[in-house]
Amino acid sequence: MYEDLEKVLFTEDQIRQRISEVAGEISRDYEGRELMLVTVLKGAVFFLTYLAQALKIPVRIDFLGIANFSPGRALPGVVRISKDLDQEIHGMDVLLVEDIVDTGLTLRYLLNILSGRLPSSLAVCTFLDKSARRLVEIPVKYRCFEIPDRFVVGFGLDYNQNYRTLPCVGILKSQIYQSKP
Ligand code: IMP
Repeated sequence: MYEDLEKVLFTEDQIRQRISEVAGEISRDYEGRELMLVTVLKGAVFFLTYLAQALKIPVRIDFLGIANFSPGRALPGVVRISKDLDQEIHGMDVLLVEDIVDTGLTLRYLLNILSGRLPSSLAVCTFLDKSARRLVEIPVKYRCFEIPDRFVVGFGLDYNQNYRTLPCVGILKSQIYQSKP
């Protein structure tokens, strides 16, 4: 899998180090409160696992599954919930854990749904932020890394369901996705 990368952006050590810093911030901000980590399947699961272990406060976790309506993302941000939360979030402090915020359209949709369930607070924590591509403003409270406007894989992020298990984050060689019909 490494041979398909043009460049490694973050090694596993750098990722672990940065996630513990962000976990420290979150632990301070939510001290004495009960936090619910809502994670978007599937990519963010890898990030969630490291993050939750590094937090110093008790947390609950739950998962949201989403499916794009349009294969190839011809209609970005148009998603449907394929797996809803198992727990109520009414009156809870909720942190939405994402793998990457790109245009922000997916997250805007999810934030609208979750805020309608009246949590006591709702914030976003993303592993990667590609803010140069943002189309809608998203309040990102915690981010591990800002990345350039390139397609990246690894540490949960995929291309056609591949590369998720790479322990680092890297830029995928463009010939990999340009060679597909
Ligand atoms: P948004 O709605 O444009 O913010 O899209 C976010 C979703 O697009 C993410 O949850 C990923 O599934 C996907 N995505 C965006 N950029 C990348 C990337 O560089 N690598 C892998 N997936 C990406």
